[in-house]
Amino acid sequence: MTLVKTFSRLFPRRQLISPARSSFPTRMNSSSSSSSSAATAQAQTNYKIVEKVTDFEKVQSQRPDFDHSNTPIQVTKSPNPDWQYGSGLGKHAPATPKTHTEIDPYAADRPMVNNYRLLVSGIAPRPVGFLSTVSGDGATKNLSPFSYFQVIDHDPPMFIVGFSSRPGREKDTYRNLKETGECVINSVSENMIEAVNASSIDAPYGVSEWEVSGLHEAATTTVTPSRVEESVFSIEGKVVDIKEFTDHVKPGMSLAGVVLIKATRFWVQEDAVNADLSHIDLDKLRPVGQLGGMSYGRVTSTFEVPRRRWDDEHPKSEVLSKLEGSKPRSSQ
Ligand SMILES: Cc1cc2nc3c(=O)[nH]c(=O)nc-3n(C[C@H](O)[C@H](O)[C@H](O)COP(=O)(O)O)c2cc1C
Repeated sequence: MTLVKTFSRLFPRRQLISPARSSFPTRMNSSSSSSSSAATAQAQTNYKIVEKVTDFEKVQSQRPDFDHSNTPIQVTKSPNPDWQYGSGLGKHAPATPKTHTEIDPYAADRPMVNNYRLLVSGIAPRPVGFLSTVSGDGATKNLSPFSYFQVIDHDPPMFIVGFSSRPGREKDTYRNLKETGECVINSVSENMIEAVNASSIDAPYGVSEWEVSGLHEAATTTVTPSRVEESVFSIEGKVVDIKEFTDHVKPGMSLAGVVLIKATRFWVQEDAVNADLSHIDLDKLRPVGQLGGMSYGRVTSTFEVPRRRWDDEHPKSEVLSKLEGSKPRSSQ
């Protein structure tokens, strides 16, 4: 039996889309529809996630050019190679401990956008999952980036994507995932970032961001959406679960939620993968990480830190051997 068949048996289409059905707009009478459009208009006024940027071209013109030399990514020693068990930050610890400010994310006087800015600047860098989807009726192709994104397991290969609420209508990608249960997650390399960012534009439902980006479609085998030819790594995937944040709906704003996706195929650029198809060359992948505000980071330098095994390490370390000796009897 092929993998595709196994998947459709395990996760039949109806089962995939049912958890989210309730999120679709229900038929409204004219008074509820006009109050809902007033709420959407108000939500639009308050929405500060995508703000107008002034003078960007002027600031950009004063910056050095991007280094396109593709110099191999440098590998240095790790920050503290002589680190010992139990030594915390070791010799790099600050002279006096830092103090912290407590924040209640739900405080009445705290604008939601402050949580957005804090989270995207504090949880960084984030990989960008570039999702290709198709609408339920098959009429519209969609391509958009998401950095509330992560691989969360390899066995099975699983991914998670978070969709934020916005005024009026939910993200088209989210809608498509609920309608079809299928996508392709494409990697984002440095040379793609302007095209990827362009595809994040709030295009009306039904407009294909493939054309906005100018990126090219390549064939897939287990799902309907195309993969991005320019991406070094693409993952065909099917939705296995959806969790909507229904207790947090705000007037005029769409539902937010997370989608759990299971891979059905991998595609790797041939010159970027090793012989046994188990490693992607970072010098070829050249990933970008999304940071706070409108910043992105690139990888120009790496270091290695081996993972150790308890049984090898505790005889060599005073701290670990003491901990080994103090284990509760039941775990010995
Ligand atoms: C790099 C990048 C990362 C983004 N990450 C997310 C995200 O994780 N979740 C989200 O809801 N929107 C995210 N956005 C915004 C969406 O891409 C944007 O709302 C887009 O218009 C959604 O497209 P769609 O409605 O066609 O699905 C991101 C935008 C960029 C440029």
